Amino acid sequence: MRLAILGCGTVGSEVVRLLHEQSADLAARIGAPLEIAGIAVRRLGRDRGDLPVAPELFTTDAVGLVKSDDVDVVVEVVGGIEPARSWLVDALRAGKSVVTANKALLAEDGASLHDAAADGGADLYYEAAVAGAIPLLRPLRESLHGDRINRVTGIVNGTTNFILSAMDATGAGFAEALEEATELGYAEADPTADVEGFDAAAKAAILASLAFHTRVGAADVHREGITEVTAADMASAKAMGCTIKLLCIAARGTDAAGRESVSVRVHPAMIPLSHPLASVGDAYNAVFVEAEAAGPLMFYGRGAGGAATASAVLGDVVAVCRNRLAGVRAPSESAYADLAVRPMGEALTRYHVSLDVADKPGVLAAVAGVFARHDVSIATVRQAPAGTEPAGRGADAVLVIVTHTAPDAALAATVEDLRGLDAVRSIASVLRVEGGE
Ligand code: NDP
Ligand code: HSE
Repeated sequence: MRLAILGCGTVGSEVVRLLHEQSADLAARIGAPLEIAGIAVRRLGRDRGDLPVAPELFTTDAVGLVKSDDVDVVVEVVGGIEPARSWLVDALRAGKSVVTANKALLAEDGASLHDAAADGGADLYYEAAVAGAIPLLRPLRESLHGDRINRVTGIVNGTTNFILSAMDATGAGFAEALEEATELGYAEADPTADVEGFDAAAKAAILASLAFHTRVGAADVHREGITEVTAADMASAKAMGCTIKLLCIAARGTDAAGRESVSVRVHPAMIPLSHPLASVGDAYNAVFVEAEAAGPLMFYGRGAGGAATASAVLGDVVAVCRNRLAGVRAPSESAYADLAVRPMGEALTRYHVSLDVADKPGVLAAVAGVFARHDVSIATVRQAPAGTEPAGRGADAVLVIVTHTAPDAALAATVEDLRGLDAVRSIASVLRVEGGE
């Protein structure tokens, strides 16, 4: 089996190293030796340390390598939309199997890849694209195909989980925790894709597509990052027995017209410390799957890193090579359900709202009236004198309200109207609350 490897950076170099170190075992598992036909990179002169590979295998001609008749499997670990999309579409149409870790491409235009795989009768595997080393997509794609998945809730971005875990542990603000994450090498020089939730949103789209047999793209995912999460928010969460995590949530439900549909969102949320995801610390990932017959399932492990991600890539390489040798294809994309994606306003969630208010008669009634007008039911109310709540220093009183589940649009409209109340001096924090109801 001849492999074209596109990219030799953090992940690609570990793929090359593991291919060398485990060549005998991999050959035995596949039933044929694996050989590297070539490695496409951007800079031929880059120092690649002591990679155990002949220098003449490196090329900048990715197109030529992909088109070579001498290649059975294309492994893409470059990233980005183009030129990766063109390379992979060409390879798949030519009947070559593809293994990719490229979540951005799969979420942006997975349809083109799946269609090309169907046209060429080729395999498309992408276990490493979501939650790195964690075997997650194969279970969704195969093991759970006899079941009905209702909800997937995950921590799928290691950088933001490291930052939020640090804020929880030390009381640091976002900027300070980001600085620590950068110093320790968790956050990239440009952390935008991670802290603004783009990376998690791409993964959410892939998870939702597999869980609900429906094509979901990055544009279908409601996305909010963690840059607005403050030390005061984290302190409020702690006061409620919660922590804050950047969650990706894909849930089955019904739309306003009563039709079955899905909602897919990424945003920070409070979760109770008793929730299985609350104890996922540092840069770890975990995904909680709720299936009708299987019940709750938890997947946990390293979501990033060269070797961890290469493990998932090589698992896919073994699978596609075995298929080729057996003359079979893995089951193709399953998107038969074709469910509509509900707008964020229809997502059902809960809110935690912390208000700085004047401490005088009628204020609580006025605030409660706003919630009632939007048909949002209040679950708990706590009032503290000013100064005893981290969010409310200097106010006459702090009101902390947690709602029951309601449509996100109703909750957002409630908060908007609260801003207009004379008695509300400021809205100190608004956070969604997940789990526990
Ligand atoms: P890197 O930036 O470390 O490596 C990218 C590689 O692609 C480099 O070898 C680079 O060449 C090469 N490359 C870039 N542009 C071109 C081009 N036009 N033609 C040929 N080669 C090119 O990325 P990562 O290894 O971190 O990520 C690779 C993929 O894996 C991405 O899709 C990423 O999202 C995904 N992924 C990464 C994880 C991680 O922990 N890093 C985890 C899970 C998924 P050169 O070396 O010459 O610069
Ligand atoms: N930047 C990603 C993270 C890498 O922090 O999880 C893995 O996709």
